[in-house]
Amino acid sequence: MSWSSRVRRDFPILEQSIEGQPLVYLDSGASTLRPRPVVEAMMHYEYTHHSNVHRGVHTLSQRATECYEASRERVRSWLGAKYAHEIVFTHGTTEALNLVAQGWGLQHLQPGDEIVLSVMEHHANIIPWQRVAQQTGARLRYIPLDPVTQILDLSKLEQLLTSQTKVVAVTHVSNVLGTIQPLQLFVQRAREVGAISVVDGAQWVPHSRAEVQSINCDFYAVSAHKMYGPTGIGALYGKTEYLEQIEPLLVGGGMVEKVDWESASWDRLPGRLEAGTPPIAAAVGWAAAIDYLETLEASYAAEHTEQAMAEHQQRPRFPSPKVSYVAEHAKKVMAYAVEQLSSLAFLDVYASSSPHLGVISFNMHQVHSYDLGQILDMEGVAIRTGHHCAQPLMRSLKVEGTARASFGIYNTLKEVDTLIQALHTAKQMLLG
Ligand SMILES: Cc1ncc(COP(=O)(O)O)c(C=O)c1O
Repeated sequence: MSWSSRVRRDFPILEQSIEGQPLVYLDSGASTLRPRPVVEAMMHYEYTHHSNVHRGVHTLSQRATECYEASRERVRSWLGAKYAHEIVFTHGTTEALNLVAQGWGLQHLQPGDEIVLSVMEHHANIIPWQRVAQQTGARLRYIPLDPVTQILDLSKLEQLLTSQTKVVAVTHVSNVLGTIQPLQLFVQRAREVGAISVVDGAQWVPHSRAEVQSINCDFYAVSAHKMYGPTGIGALYGKTEYLEQIEPLLVGGGMVEKVDWESASWDRLPGRLEAGTPPIAAAVGWAAAIDYLETLEASYAAEHTEQAMAEHQQRPRFPSPKVSYVAEHAKKVMAYAVEQLSSLAFLDVYASSSPHLGVISFNMHQVHSYDLGQILDMEGVAIRTGHHCAQPLMRSLKVEGTARASFGIYNTLKEVDTLIQALHTAKQMLLG
């Protein structure tokens, strides 16, 4: 049995039909599916260990605490952070970015300061900065898109980064175009002008470890549900010195050192930023997802050894970054999809020649992406349509929305063929 057939057996959800057709799930960019080991780990935790964390001396509470902190350690390892206390659990990437914007930005930004974003950001990395800019009098500046290459126009970076820049917040991988950003460049230039660097890692971590220490960013935000883990949990990585500068947004139980009648003092990291009872079972599921990805990595390497090793080692570190074996399979499927989609004359495909990962957008001429998405659903093919929470990027691309296919470890070349076939059917129905 092939590697991908074995992987697919771990995802019972894929065994169903939609509208009488086998499900082809091409929406992992929105949320990945969960393999059996993740669901089982959460069930096992609920059935055998559950209690609240960090508070009890009894056995169940201690076990729950051990599970929760072991999960933090697994996330630390996947993100490549130095210390476990540099991983703060949140509800997801959105909360993590709000935590930086409100918890750090509100304390440190002043009128005249500038926040540099790119036009490729998800709303989760735009709106929190708009809010803090309105609160503090800081200004937003955007790295624009080069209309021809459809990658960020880095020639504008030098004009945008000045001594007034206090924050550079960019996505690692675009959730619309799949573009991998030259993070080291952004981070290094941010540091040179005295700004902090904040990275939205939501679309990178399903494919690879983050290596935050070598990226050298100050903050990095992720969600578990984008990387085969459960919904409801994510994390903010931050360098210790910057996390310590964050004012907790939530206050209450579990995050204090001492509480008096009139005031309270905060606990150490990471507890000070995790008020209230956390999503413990979700943390356990996330750790199981990371274990699962590591197991896949090993099995992929074992089966594709020589060729994969050679390709892996040849790949230059920068600007085309190293991805782990987890990404290799999805990359192959994606490359095939780009080739096949680009050959269809009735589509506009938004695939630049720059390194990209996991996600591809396209539009059928004169057809609204929603209509296309609905017809593909009737063919059993699940894609995403609309603005993908990236309206400024849609404006730069001069489109209202796009159809987006995104790929995970369970997708196959045959599924790309099904997508292409379904697009022909849609064309027939919509354009004749
Ligand atoms: C690039 C990017 N950033 C942030 C988010 C928000 O993630 P969440 O909804 O898990 O907070 C997403 C989700 O689609 C994303 O793709």
